[in-house]
Amino acid sequence: MAGSTTRVLAIETSCDETAVAILNGRAVSASLIASQIDLHRPYGGVVPELASRNHNTALPPLIEKAMADAGDLELGQIDAFCATSGPGLASSLLIGNTFAKTLAVASNRPFFGVNHLEGHLLSPFLGSPLEKVPHHVGLVVSGGHTLLVEVFGFGQYRLLGTTRDDAAGEAFDKGAKMLGLPYPGGPEIDQLAVRGDPTAFDFPRSMLGHRSLDFSFSGLKTSLLYQLEKMSPEERQTVLPNLCASFQAAIVEVLTTKAVEACRETQNAHLAVSGGVSCNSALRSALKTACAKAGIALHLTPPAWTTDNAAMIGFVGALALEEGRDPSALEEDIDPNLPLAGLKPA
Ligand code: KG4
Ligand code: ZN
Repeated sequence: MAGSTTRVLAIETSCDETAVAILNGRAVSASLIASQIDLHRPYGGVVPELASRNHNTALPPLIEKAMADAGDLELGQIDAFCATSGPGLASSLLIGNTFAKTLAVASNRPFFGVNHLEGHLLSPFLGSPLEKVPHHVGLVVSGGHTLLVEVFGFGQYRLLGTTRDDAAGEAFDKGAKMLGLPYPGGPEIDQLAVRGDPTAFDFPRSMLGHRSLDFSFSGLKTSLLYQLEKMSPEERQTVLPNLCASFQAAIVEVLTTKAVEACRETQNAHLAVSGGVSCNSALRSALKTACAKAGIALHLTPPAWTTDNAAMIGFVGALALEEGRDPSALEEDIDPNLPLAGLKPA
C-alpha cells in the first residue's frame, strides 16, 4: 500500500485540545485544533470534566470543517479512522475514541487506536516515508512526559531514560504558577525569558553528571520556591524576566546535555525532539548548538506540530495502514496510562 493515497481521519482528545486531521497518504490535507486554553485558564490548569464536555461539542463542527478543508470530502472517501487511545485524561480520551469508532462502524472502515506518545515521538518526521526515519534517539518533552527513547524503527523502541518526578512541561507550568503567570506557563516563561539573564539565579541542574539518563525536576521547583520566599512581591516583579530565564536555563541545560549523552551512549548520530516543550526557543537554540558541536544530526519537530495535534496521530495511523498492521478491536478500551507499544526497558 506504500505510496498510495489512502485517506485517514484522526482525532486527538487526550487532554484539553480538540484536534482533527485528515491525511492523504502521509501528507496532511487538513489539521484543525480547537483550543480550550481560555476555558481552563481561570482554574490555573485543565479541569477534566470541562475538557470532555467541550470535546463533545467541539468535535462535530471540527470534523465537518476538516472534511471541507481536505477538499469537500464525504465520509465514504475516508479509508480509516484513528484516535488517541492513551495516555491522557480518561474522560477526554473517551470522547475522541468513541467518535472515531462510531465513524468507523458507520462507514464500515477500520479503526486504529494510536498511542499519544508515539504520535509525539514520530512527529519530527511527519509526512516522511518510513525509509527517511533513521535509527535515532528521540526526546519527547511534553506536559505529562519526559522520555529518552532509542528508535530502531516503527514500533521498535527502547527506553533510555524518563523523569523520576515532574515532566519538563509540568516543571514549566508549576514554575510559572509560582511566578504568578497564567496557564499554560511554558510559553509565558519562554517569552519573558527573552528579556532576562539566564545566569542571574543559580538553579539546580538535577541528575547532571549522573550516569543515569533519567531526569528529575522537582528539586528545581523547590529551589524556585525558596528563592521567591526571600523576595518581596515588588522585587519578584522587577526581576521576573531574570527568574524566568534562569529557571528555563536549568531545564534546557539538563534536557540538552542528557539528549546528547544518550546519543553518545547509544553511538547514534541522529536526535529527534518532540512534544510541547520542544517549541521552547531557548531549548531549540541550545540543541542546535550542542548537536552541531557533537556532530549529531538534529531533527526538530516543526513548531506547529510540537503541541498536541491530530496530524501526528493520523501519521501513526497512516504508517500502521501502510505497514499492513491489524486495526484495533472496537472493544479495545482507552488507557489513561497506556505505555508506548514495543518499548523495551532500559
Ligand atoms: O505536548 P503537549 O501539547 O501536551 C502534552 O502531551 O502534555 O505539551 C504541553 C506542554 C505544557 O506543559 C506547556 O507549558 C509546554 O508544553 N509548552 C512549552 C512551550 N510551549 C508549550 N514549554 C516551554 N516553552 C514553550 N514555548
Ligand atoms: Zn502531548
